[in-house]
Amino acid sequence: MNYDFDNLINRENTGSLKYDYFKERGKPAGLIPMWVADMDFKTAPCIIDALKNVADHGIFGYSEPDKNYFPAMRDWFLKHYNFQISQEWHVQTPGVVFALAHAVRAFTNIGDSIIIQPPVYYPFSEVILDNDRVLIESPLVRSGDTYVIDFDAFEKKIIDNKVVMFILCSPHNPVGRVWTHDELTKLGNICLRHGVIVISDEIHADFVYSGYKHYVFGSLHEDVNQISMICTSRGKSFNQAGLQVSDIFIANPSMRKKLLVEINKSGYSQRNTFGLIGAKVAYEHGADWLKSLLKYLECNRDLIVDFLSKNFPEIRVARCEGTYLAWLDFSNLGIPRDELLTLITNHAKLWLDDGLIFGKEGIMHQRMNFGCPRATLKRALDQLMLLKPFVRS
Ligand SMILES: Cc1ncc(COP(=O)(O)O)c(C=O)c1O
Repeated sequence: MNYDFDNLINRENTGSLKYDYFKERGKPAGLIPMWVADMDFKTAPCIIDALKNVADHGIFGYSEPDKNYFPAMRDWFLKHYNFQISQEWHVQTPGVVFALAHAVRAFTNIGDSIIIQPPVYYPFSEVILDNDRVLIESPLVRSGDTYVIDFDAFEKKIIDNKVVMFILCSPHNPVGRVWTHDELTKLGNICLRHGVIVISDEIHADFVYSGYKHYVFGSLHEDVNQISMICTSRGKSFNQAGLQVSDIFIANPSMRKKLLVEINKSGYSQRNTFGLIGAKVAYEHGADWLKSLLKYLECNRDLIVDFLSKNFPEIRVARCEGTYLAWLDFSNLGIPRDELLTLITNHAKLWLDDGLIFGKEGIMHQRMNFGCPRATLKRALDQLMLLKPFVRS
C-alpha cells in the first residue's frame, strides 16, 4: 500500500507541544519547529480506524490489554528482533521515561552511582539527579562525524565509582548510532563482570536504516537478559507518543517484583484505553506502514547529509544509522555560541534542540528532527543557508 508522507498537516491549535507552545517556551512565532521528537505524519491508517471504533463505542472505562495484545507483541519482537519474550516478563508503564525513573528508585538507593553515555537523551541525567543518585558520565568518543564507545574508560568509570546501574540508549539519541552486536556484547560483558544492572531504552528500535540492525539488549545472552530491563514502545514509531503506552520486559523475577512494587507505590495501574488499542494494532498490522515510513525517513536523512555536504560543508553531520534525529555540528562555523543560537532562531527561523541539553559534549551542536514532510525539510535547509554569510572560519 502507498502512504502519503508528503501531506502537510496543520498541527496548530491541537495542543501540540511542538506547534502550540512557542511563547511559553520563549520562542518567537513563525519558526519551523524541529525539536521535540514526534513526527508530523498521521499514524498508520489501521491505527486511526481502530481508534475511531474505540471512540464510537463511547465507553472509556479502565482497560487492560486484550487477549490479542500479548501474542501480537510477542510476534513483533520475534519477527523484527529475534527476541523471544515471555508473558510474565511484561510490565506496563505509561511511558519509557516513567519506567526509567521507577527503575532508578526500584533498583538503586539514594547516593548510588548510575552511568550514562553523553551526549544522551537528557531525561537520563534528570531521573538520576532528581532521585538523589550520583551521575557518572562516560562520554561517547567522536570518530570522524560519528561516535564510538571507549570501553576501557567505561569499565574504569564503573570500577572507580562503584556504579550499580547503566542507562543505555539503543539506538542512540541524539548521535544516531545503532549499536552493533559486538559493541552491545562488550557493554553487556562489562556490566556482568561488575554486577551492573542495565536499563536499555530501546524506544528508537524501529528506526533503523539500510545496512544496520537493532539488537534487543536482552537478546545477546541469557546472562545479560537476567541483569536487564528492556524499555520499548510503539509510541515513537507510530507517532502516538501522546497515547502514553510502553511495554517493558524484565526476565529476572526479583528485578521485576522490585519494579512492580515501585510502580504500585506511585498508585499507577491501568494504561490508556486508546493507547492500548494503538499499540496492539501497531503490533498486529503496522509493519507495512512502518516499512514505508522508514524509506521516507531514510530519504530525508540523505537529503540533509547531501544538501549540507554540497551547500554548507562547514556544518558537519553524520549519516545517522537510526532515529529521525540529525545531530548537526556547528563548531566549524566560527560563530560564538550565543550568537549562533540567536541566528538559528531569528535568522534561520528554526526551532532545533540545543546540543548542550544532552550534556556538555553537545556544545555547538543542534539536534534536528527530520520526521516531517520533505517540503518542510527542504524549507528548513534553505533557511539554514541564511547562516552562511555569518561564517567566520
Ligand atoms: C531515548 C528516548 N527515550 C524515551 C523517550 C520518551 O519516551 P516516553 O514518551 O515513552 O516517556 C524519548 C523521546 O524523545 C527518547 O528519545
